[in-house]
Amino acid sequence: MKNIRLLIILAACFMFFDSYATSTEITIIPRPVEAEIAKGYFTLSPKTVINIVNGEDDLHYACNFFNKLMTNTFGNPLSVKQGTNRKNAVNISVNPSLEKEEYYLDVTKKTINITAGSSQGVFYAFQSLRQLMPLNVENGEHLANIEIQNISIKDKPLYPYRGAMLDVVRHISSKEDIKTFIDMLALHKFNRFHWHLTDDQGWRIEIKSYPELTRVGSMRAETLIKKTSEYDGTPYGGYFTQEDVKEIVQYAAENYITVIPEIELPGHASAALTSYPSLGCTGGPYKVEGRWGVFNDVFCAGNDDTFTFLQGVFDEVIELFPSEYIHVGGDECPKKRWKECPKCQHRIQEENLKNEHELQSYFVERMEKYINSKGRKIIGWDEILEGGISQTATIMSWRGTKGGIEAAKLGNKVIMSPNSHAYLDYYQSKDRENEPLSIGGFVSVEKVYSLNPVEGLNPAEANNVIGVQGNIWREYIKDFPHVQYMALPRIAALAEVGWTPTEMKNYEDFRRRAIILTHRYKALSYNFANHILSEE
Ligand code: ACM
Ligand code: ZN
Repeated sequence: MKNIRLLIILAACFMFFDSYATSTEITIIPRPVEAEIAKGYFTLSPKTVINIVNGEDDLHYACNFFNKLMTNTFGNPLSVKQGTNRKNAVNISVNPSLEKEEYYLDVTKKTINITAGSSQGVFYAFQSLRQLMPLNVENGEHLANIEIQNISIKDKPLYPYRGAMLDVVRHISSKEDIKTFIDMLALHKFNRFHWHLTDDQGWRIEIKSYPELTRVGSMRAETLIKKTSEYDGTPYGGYFTQEDVKEIVQYAAENYITVIPEIELPGHASAALTSYPSLGCTGGPYKVEGRWGVFNDVFCAGNDDTFTFLQGVFDEVIELFPSEYIHVGGDECPKKRWKECPKCQHRIQEENLKNEHELQSYFVERMEKYINSKGRKIIGWDEILEGGISQTATIMSWRGTKGGIEAAKLGNKVIMSPNSHAYLDYYQSKDRENEPLSIGGFVSVEKVYSLNPVEGLNPAEANNVIGVQGNIWREYIKDFPHVQYMALPRIAALAEVGWTPTEMKNYEDFRRRAIILTHRYKALSYNFANHILSEE
């Protein structure tokens, strides 16, 4: 009996030690630029202090994050002091001569030193430290102390933009789940959350000057069942109030993540048109769609009221989101209605435009000027290239990397989010029978990992690529555990694409570390896909 108990304890120990850095190999994702493991351990205990040697206004967000882990471990936070470097401390120095997101993390036998370019860099040092600590820090049983492998890290990201998009239109998530999504991004050192808030199937953000958008536009009467032509007969909807939005933007800021709202124009506008039918070319009637796809009814580009409306929407959106970028959509806008609409045709003549593609450019550039006048920049999907593009718009390349390459060559900034590598709503296994129903495609973890965002560009053009993004469209993703299943561990692969120098990438090494990271997902009660465990 005693022997069996001993065996169980030994087995548990092996499982436990397997889960974090006790080995001579690096376990952190994304892989740090430089990391050297040294002999020995630092013993972190409730007596260890967080010692701020010098800091910044928002450093408390980083410290609060770390102290949450400490509270999970010891039952109480570490005390926070100020002073010169000391023993048995996490000494924090912000040194603005480093890059903003850059950090050094030194764990020695006597103390832990963090030096970073800003509080954000300190936060990333804590995220790395987290991955060097046992799973108890996530939500386990209390420990008396923690031994942390001695290590010296010098680290900074490859790209300044590391994002993920979540569609809350086709299916919505609660505020708490959105916060968990932000936590998931922070764990992987992402710094942008692109929030897809409006589309044909619903309008999900309160706009006080246009109340019909949520009164009418947030509800659809029914939804198509799976891939059939039958509807479920059940109304579906919901939206985020401005108070909800403020809470989420603040929560993201505490995790050094900027929230970029997306308000779709000129297409994907059925919910807006159903709320305000006079803004469409035909005047309606319209309905909030219960089907997926691309719809012919779009904002009328010949009607000045459309621009007045959108300006009013952006006035409120810009107040709510401090982001430098506002996403204006721009994808999949059919030109059928514009071809038939006297107002749109009149606009083409009046503005000396060649065709409806140029009308789309007119539309986007008119809104861009307005958004620029408020001190913000736009991002648009790669279709905004089609009728000519302003110098200042940033392109999000989704139909492969082709549009991104074209834009980078033109001198525009680019975010690579190709459906070939970064569509996390696609199947992640070829064995579709055993996967939840998906929109289609096939993007394995290895495929995500293989993305080279600057392939096909010379070094000057490559400088225009500011980063990468993974997208989670939710036609078939109803609940949050399913979102997590699609995101994890593929966002770990994308995190490394966005962070680690390309020449350092090695899929087998990544896979070893990703398997270790899945233990942390489990400890955090995150649902995840485990295909990487059985890859050949
Ligand atoms: C998109 O997937 N339509 C951007
Ligand atoms: Zn029109």
